[in-house]
Amino acid sequence: MAKRIINFNPGPAALPLPVLEQIKDEFLDYRNTGMSIIEISHRSKPFEEALNQAVERTRRLLHLGDDFHVVFVQGGASLQFCMIPMNLALEGKPVDYLNTGTWSNKAIKEAKTLGKDVRVIASSEDRGFSYIPKAFQVDPNASYLHFTSNNTIKGTQWAEFPKAGEVPLICDMSSDIMSRPFDAKPFGLIYAGAQKNIGPAGSAMVILRKDMLDRVPASLPSMLKYTTFTGENSLYNTPACFVIYTVSLVLKWLEETVGGLEKMEKINREKADILYGFIDGSDFYRGTAEKDSRSLMNVTFRLPSEELEAKFVADASKAGLGGLKGHRSVGGCRASIYNAIGIDEVKNLVDFMADFQKKAS
Ligand SMILES: Cc1ncc(COP(=O)(O)O)c(C=O)c1O
Repeated sequence: MAKRIINFNPGPAALPLPVLEQIKDEFLDYRNTGMSIIEISHRSKPFEEALNQAVERTRRLLHLGDDFHVVFVQGGASLQFCMIPMNLALEGKPVDYLNTGTWSNKAIKEAKTLGKDVRVIASSEDRGFSYIPKAFQVDPNASYLHFTSNNTIKGTQWAEFPKAGEVPLICDMSSDIMSRPFDAKPFGLIYAGAQKNIGPAGSAMVILRKDMLDRVPASLPSMLKYTTFTGENSLYNTPACFVIYTVSLVLKWLEETVGGLEKMEKINREKADILYGFIDGSDFYRGTAEKDSRSLMNVTFRLPSEELEAKFVADASKAGLGGLKGHRSVGGCRASIYNAIGIDEVKNLVDFMADFQKKAS
């Protein structure tokens, strides 16, 4: 029996155990091919089935209409930071960004590097990115409005998405995709590095409204154009086969075992309520995100001293609770409670936290 820990890593992160077990069971002989999924051709029927499953399940889970493409693009979420302005910024029209932390900042930097007319229309930098901005004015002439739905490092999340009228929303959903249902209609493009809520590292899922493709400049190199990926069902070149296959299994688990995104959101809320409730009731732990901006996925908190934080992370690890160290840029502690983390596992963490507090006080 493999010895597994409770994995609170921010990404790559915990995946549902039944998915890992299925991968293990069918690894050496995938669907009677006599080969593993990482040895078969990306043009073979069994792989194409996995790819199509991943796409169809995404469509169903997010209730996407026929006006959306779902593709997989290598290069992680970070490549999207530059592909978006390259492909979707319109001549003579600004690109609007909301700055809620490290990842939004990186997206902004790439758009600026490309010489686009970048307008940062709101930022939460004044209070260390501990909140989600409420007041901002989107330029009705903007090419798009970019935002990060969940800020993995600072532990904040948009509870409701920004409104931008006719201006298409573009969203980095890397750390909360498939954690809750939402209306995709106002979105021109949604992207997510796979390695948090939907699979292993190596690819980004990109959901693209078809009318966005009219903007793609013909002059771009093939691998940087969205039309290359949409035109060939993500098979222009060899895609990240193992990632796509795993995503198809995670989404199957979401649909068939969890029962869809409404149910997933309910579980995610319950998990977050348990953890934040405990933190709020303690004078030892302190949440770092402002209450109305808290993330349901990444719960960030501090202890009374850095020494205690280091001991907390080390003791937790010894007790089989891994990945609780905050991002290196901010310190403190962080519990990432993505879809694959269950309610009991969060209760386990809370028990450990209570015990640690008792011993330290
Ligand atoms: C919100 C968000 N965006 C982007 C990234 C970068 O993703 P990648 O490593 O796939 O480029 C991360 C990684 O943690 C993230 O949390």
